[in-house]
Amino acid sequence: PDAITVQELANRMAEKGADLVKALFKLGMMVTVNQTIDHDTAELLVEEFGHNIQRVSESDVDIDTSTDVDAEESLKVRPPVVTIMGHVDHGKTSLLDALRGTDVVRGEAGGITQHIGAYQIKTKGGDLVTFLDTPGHEAFTEMRMRGANVTDIVILVVAADDGIMPQTIEAINHTKAAGVPMIVAITKADKHEANPQKIRERLLEHEIVVEQMSGDVQDVEVSAKTGQGLDELIEKILLQAELLELKANPDRAAEATVIEAKLDKGKGPLATVLVTRGTLKVGDILVVGTHSGRVRAMLDDKGRQVKEAPPSLPVEVLGLGGVPMAGDTLTVVESEARAREVAAYRQEQATAKRTTQAPASIENMFSALA
Ligand code: GTP
Ligand code: MG
Repeated sequence: PDAITVQELANRMAEKGADLVKALFKLGMMVTVNQTIDHDTAELLVEEFGHNIQRVSESDVDIDTSTDVDAEESLKVRPPVVTIMGHVDHGKTSLLDALRGTDVVRGEAGGITQHIGAYQIKTKGGDLVTFLDTPGHEAFTEMRMRGANVTDIVILVVAADDGIMPQTIEAINHTKAAGVPMIVAITKADKHEANPQKIRERLLEHEIVVEQMSGDVQDVEVSAKTGQGLDELIEKILLQAELLELKANPDRAAEATVIEAKLDKGKGPLATVLVTRGTLKVGDILVVGTHSGRVRAMLDDKGRQVKEAPPSLPVEVLGLGGVPMAGDTLTVVESEARAREVAAYRQEQATAKRTTQAPASIENMFSALA
């Protein structure tokens, strides 16, 4: 709703564009009919010409799910979504790999390589846990800034042979800002120079009091090398998940968040999405960011085709009209006409925003030219 060209506004008011330009000049603005003006200026002009302001609410065109709250009785328990954060080289990837190795499904099928940047494991007890691979601090923060808070639990990785490092502190701050509960995993516990107690003490300086220090932040010593502590870590994740009472309505049109997306030469636009509510199905018509589409096929993290994706299951979706951005919301709609209308509207909005936003710095100018 932020920008409109002078001509377009003139058309809507049934006035001459030149008259608006004149009025703007009186207001101290030198613009042509093809230039865009912001919302407040437009409102001022409308008043100046004695017209009534009729704001068309955005939700008439766009999808507004803010009022679309699921009834308590429709909610069912869903698996937790876990992100691992920590300093460079502290063992994040190794821990993700080791945890993936505990998947009983994958165990049976024998070392299937991971297909997408997120995976779900089935624990020995039959519980499901979803791990996000991609979000480093930047991705985590950017997704959060875009309103996409998909992480339920953060595992803060700290290497037992190193200590609290700059990115550890960053991760702590991001996690606190997001209001997401944390579990501390003290990694590389197998190393002879490991000193987990020192880390617990150091965490106090950042107001993290772990259980072993009589606090309420769960902590566990792990080793990706020996497998030490992995089961305990999973138990702690499940315990935390239970406390959070994570629920979603699986029986409705799906909503999902884009975790990552790319253009594949053969398959076209591909997006890894995490279903946040409802169940995403093959054939569903959807809007994702500024694109419309229809789910042609879905693949899980093991590369297997799936027909349906319930809440917390990450899947790769084929059939999108374009490549969305990480953090974009995918929404299933009732018709292709509706999907196209919403996508077109959002594209318009995005273009208007781009043309009114002047490059803020020389760097931006260069990147805009590149
Ligand atoms: P970046 O992605 O570069 O930030 O690193 P990372 O946090 O993903 O660390 P990564 O898993 O790549 O591990 C870094 C190094 O530590 C590698 O050489 C691993 O082999 C080693 N390492 C990770 N976990 C363990 C562990 O539990 N025990 C031992 N002994 N070494 C480990
Ligand atoms: Mg890594």
